[in-house]
Amino acid sequence: TRSTVGIVGGGPAGLMLSHLLHRAGIDSVTVDNRTRAEIEQTVRAGILESDSVRLLVDTGVSDRVLREGHPHDGIELRFGGVGHRIDFKGLVGESTWLYPQTDVFIDLAAARQRAGADVRFGVRGTRVEDLLGERPRICFTDSSGAEQVVECDYLVGADGSRSTCRHEIPEAQRRQFSREYPFAWFGILCEAPHSAPELVYAHSDRGFALISQRSETVQRMYFQCDPDEDVDAWSDDRIWQELQARVSGPDGFSLKEGAITDRTVLRFRSFVCEPMRHGNMLLAGDAAHTVPPTGAKGLNLALADATVLAEVLERAVRTGDKDVLDTYSPRAQSRVWKAQHFSYWMTSMLHTIPGATDFDRRRQLGELSMVTGSEAGSRFLAEAYTGWPQTASR
Ligand code: DHB
Repeated sequence: TRSTVGIVGGGPAGLMLSHLLHRAGIDSVTVDNRTRAEIEQTVRAGILESDSVRLLVDTGVSDRVLREGHPHDGIELRFGGVGHRIDFKGLVGESTWLYPQTDVFIDLAAARQRAGADVRFGVRGTRVEDLLGERPRICFTDSSGAEQVVECDYLVGADGSRSTCRHEIPEAQRRQFSREYPFAWFGILCEAPHSAPELVYAHSDRGFALISQRSETVQRMYFQCDPDEDVDAWSDDRIWQELQARVSGPDGFSLKEGAITDRTVLRFRSFVCEPMRHGNMLLAGDAAHTVPPTGAKGLNLALADATVLAEVLERAVRTGDKDVLDTYSPRAQSRVWKAQHFSYWMTSMLHTIPGATDFDRRRQLGELSMVTGSEAGSRFLAEAYTGWPQTASR
């Protein structure tokens, strides 16, 4: 098979790129080791920036987000057992949208299928070759067991946090930046009504908790736990006791409980790989950077990468000038590092740090009071949470 662009990875980054290229009249082939059903069952975060929503709607992926998603005009930060609302709409005039990020994949996969795109899920043994030559290739075994080769002009590694494409950048040219956290999230889905109108990010002596939503009848909640926590050690009762303890306070706030239908421990880290280009290969999404989940930036960043990369590839294809590929990494990275800081900041401000001193704990409360007690502080959070404007193209 010949194609202008070969994309390794059919998650949100890869499919959005394929979609935007198609709109620019550029053909692509996308391959993914996972089946479509496997990706559809990956539980992800549930918040989209308004620019992500506009991208889905304005480029014709789907307007389902407008019908089934819900605009959220703010969040609540809870600490010392008291809630403090951050009013996004009032502070920066933007909302975020509650929409399961898994549904973004479902919408993208459906849109690509409608357009007759060449997207191959469930392949095996994917490898990439000749990234510095004129004919980079993706080689793989397709779902029927046949050996396949996709020859392309440009190759994109959108193959997620355990990217193999990333390792094609020689170590001497690759810089990796990372930070580990001494905690993880225990995530649950439950059958219960909303406990609060908006998301609640709670700081407590027992650790962080996040009360999110999925629908009128299904809620998503998380609480900070040890990275080696054993999900089987947690009965429904024990989970509810822990969550209730982390959000309780003098205002009498409590969670509406229900049957717990899913429980997982999510480990995370901060990670950035630079540059995002090696010869004719470019990286997008989690393959190039991951963030801790607090603030739900991961998928939004992936869509922002895809937007910039589609523009850069379009120029390269139109002009034949490969030097424009060098503009991608710095443009994408300016947003990446803002999101890195924001995700790190929200995480460290809200979580209980194992081994923290009394000083550390009081300082954290001081920080939360500054953010919630000052318009400048709240606006800083609101600007970042709702998302930064797209960087200009030149
Ligand atoms: C969700 C996850 C997040 O990390 C976040 O900051 C907000 C919401 C979620 O799964 O709904």
